[in-house]
Amino acid sequence: MKRIAIVGCGKISSIYFKNSCELFPQMTVTACADLDQERAAAYARDYPHVTATSLEAILADPAIDIVLNLTPPASHYAVARQVVAAGKSVYNEKPLTITREEGQALLAQARQTGVLVGSAPDTFLGGGIQTCLQLIQEGAIGEPVGAQAFMLSRGPEGWHPDPAFFYQTGSGPLFDMGPYYLTTLVALLGPVRRVTGSARISFPTRTIGSEPKRGQKINVNVFTHSTGVLEFAGGAIGAITTSFDVWGSSMPRRIEIFGSEATLSVPDPNTFRGPVGILRAGRKEWEDVDIARSYTDNSRGLGLADMAAALEKGRPHRANGELAFHVLDIMHAIHDASAQGRHIELASTCDRPAALPANLEPGEID
Ligand SMILES: NC(=O)c1ccc[n+]([C@@H]2O[C@H](COP(=O)([O-])OP(=O)(O)OC[C@H]3O[C@@H](n4cnc5c(N)ncnc54)[C@H](O)[C@@H]3O)[C@@H](O)[C@H]2O)c1
Repeated sequence: MKRIAIVGCGKISSIYFKNSCELFPQMTVTACADLDQERAAAYARDYPHVTATSLEAILADPAIDIVLNLTPPASHYAVARQVVAAGKSVYNEKPLTITREEGQALLAQARQTGVLVGSAPDTFLGGGIQTCLQLIQEGAIGEPVGAQAFMLSRGPEGWHPDPAFFYQTGSGPLFDMGPYYLTTLVALLGPVRRVTGSARISFPTRTIGSEPKRGQKINVNVFTHSTGVLEFAGGAIGAITTSFDVWGSSMPRRIEIFGSEATLSVPDPNTFRGPVGILRAGRKEWEDVDIARSYTDNSRGLGLADMAAALEKGRPHRANGELAFHVLDIMHAIHDASAQGRHIELASTCDRPAALPANLEPGEID
């Protein structure tokens, strides 16, 4: 069993604590840290086997195998590089890092040190998207022709307790939500070869609507509406629109994949569940597809558990740094294409992560 330390005990951390301690036997949380020490202390009270401590103490503790980095994007690289330098594996929330240079440096440093880098999202390992992968691998949609993805919203400042980071470099709708959609597309269709796109800022300031910062203004420093065109190495053509500028839309927060033999309706990639639908060639009615794979509840931490098992067994892990870096490269390329008015050839690529085995019991991975 691998011992995990969680760094960053904010909004998303509770589901990771719960699943790491209660669902996955491959790992357990033994320590946590946050710049706000009371946040870490609260978890130590809830989970008696967890010690609230500092990042420095975690780095110096030889009993800790993996650091789960749940800090905001601006701290992803700064924390992760220290973890790798300390000889430990690291699993970052998304995006992997802010810049391509940081991502490349982190992966190179990890290769040199002989540790693993993993990254959210891991929703592509959920039952809904794994069912889609099975259908594609069985040839149910024929040859993939295209894909369309939508994430249209009015932004997170109405619900997140500290939403300013969503409008700073490293976040925005593409870097915050794009990883779910792009990681799913790469897991289902393989790597992307070249990209073009357009992006804009529609509202230069935002007003926080949630407590405790209600009424405070946020200056917007990132694109808040963008569309990217993706040419996959396998030949399919995809498009992704992500927005924090849209009041409402009838476009579903889903992905559709168009194949030579059928259209596949892929569930919201920010969830682990279905539904999955298929419209076969020549038919008028969509068929509901039974979810044939495990992990349909909120299983955040599944990718981390897979990495813990991979460390134990010396096999590759699925939510890995190369995949996350390719997704980061795609996101930057959409914005670069917009600025430069041209297609951008991607220098990065990655392997399609292996499907999870079928019929897994809760907590099981191999
Ligand atoms: N909130 C969500 O619904 C959600 C969902 C999925 C992924 N994420 C991702 O999770 C990450 C964190 O998001 P969040 O919503 O939990 O943010 P948050 O602001 O609620 O929490 C971040 C925490 O990290 C701490 N922190 C910041 N820098 C630190 C450092 N250098 N060392 C130690 N602690 C530090 C902060 O004090 C804070 O408690 C982001 O990368 C985000 O993209 C968030």
